[in-house]
Amino acid sequence: MSSLSVLPPECLLQPFPVPQRLMLGPGPSNVPARIAAAGAQPMLGHLHAETIEIMNQIKSGIQYAFQTRNRVTLAVSGPGHAAMECAIFNSLEPGESVLIAVNGIWGERAADIAERIGAKVNTVVTSPGGYFTNEEIEQALDKYRPVVFFLTHGESSTGVQHWEVLLSAWMSKKIFNRRTKPISYFLDMSWLANYWGCDDKPVRAYHHTGPVSFFYGLRESLAILAETGLENSWKRHKEVAEYFHKGLEEMGLKLFVQDKKARLPTVTTIVAPSGYEWREITGYIMKTYNIEISGGLGPSAGMVLRVGLMGCNSTKANVDKVLEALADALKHCHKSRV
Ligand SMILES: Cc1ncc(COP(=O)(O)O)c(C=O)c1O
Repeated sequence: MSSLSVLPPECLLQPFPVPQRLMLGPGPSNVPARIAAAGAQPMLGHLHAETIEIMNQIKSGIQYAFQTRNRVTLAVSGPGHAAMECAIFNSLEPGESVLIAVNGIWGERAADIAERIGAKVNTVVTSPGGYFTNEEIEQALDKYRPVVFFLTHGESSTGVQHWEVLLSAWMSKKIFNRRTKPISYFLDMSWLANYWGCDDKPVRAYHHTGPVSFFYGLRESLAILAETGLENSWKRHKEVAEYFHKGLEEMGLKLFVQDKKARLPTVTTIVAPSGYEWREITGYIMKTYNIEISGGLGPSAGMVLRVGLMGCNSTKANVDKVLEALADALKHCHKSRV
């Protein structure tokens, strides 16, 4: 007889077999075995000297990846949304004005996050698949004179990229000279900057327990990038994406982003083939080929199929696989004549 009112769940008393799958959606993507193995290394304390050294190496790797010498470079312990909230919570104060360029779901989400802290939110909006010219951005900046401007570099919901991103050193001054405390303790940049050794304090204080195993994995992924070389990595992603785009057009499919230079090389958006139910296509490809591709998201929902070719998944061999799967799906899925 157990003294417990809730017994161990039956489902946890047997192993869970996770299948191998080719992850060609907008994320998550497959992880090289080397990164998975790094994450399985022995546990260390999150403030042990070796962990701090790993964190310092991660900082250098991120500075390389983003080509910045900004001292306040760090990784946020959390998903992309945590990083978005961290950026917005720290750079804006209640009542301040922010201009958000919306060309997909990430601009919409940024506006929602900024509204929640009582910022004055102004937006410039373009249709899904579109992008902003420098003139449009300058005009909007002149009109609204915001304290903060938000633009998504790689809009993964629509497959659009903006290139000439202006990184502002002024932002650091703004973040560290606030009238009010940021709304989130966990995402407070003065704590995070100290935890990551980005300030002048001699000691790193406990703020939260960093995800040590993830630090190992992140360090390893940045090591792969350093060995590959950033320019080689950009080149490979671009060439593989162009090879994919050519293959799609040869099959009679249409790319959602008209302007070639605005196409995000990591996530390709394909106009949802007319007459088909997009879910049947993604379902068929998953069932028959064990490959994940996905539909649209937010403003692009129902309009596109999305295929991600990122990191170790960015290969011509994967392009051939996904093109074959798409061609087969178009043959076998129901096509209405209306
Ligand atoms: C550009 C961009 N921002 C933010 C996010 C949100 O990331 P997460 O789902 O990890 O919270 C994503 C996710 O795909 C993204 O592509």
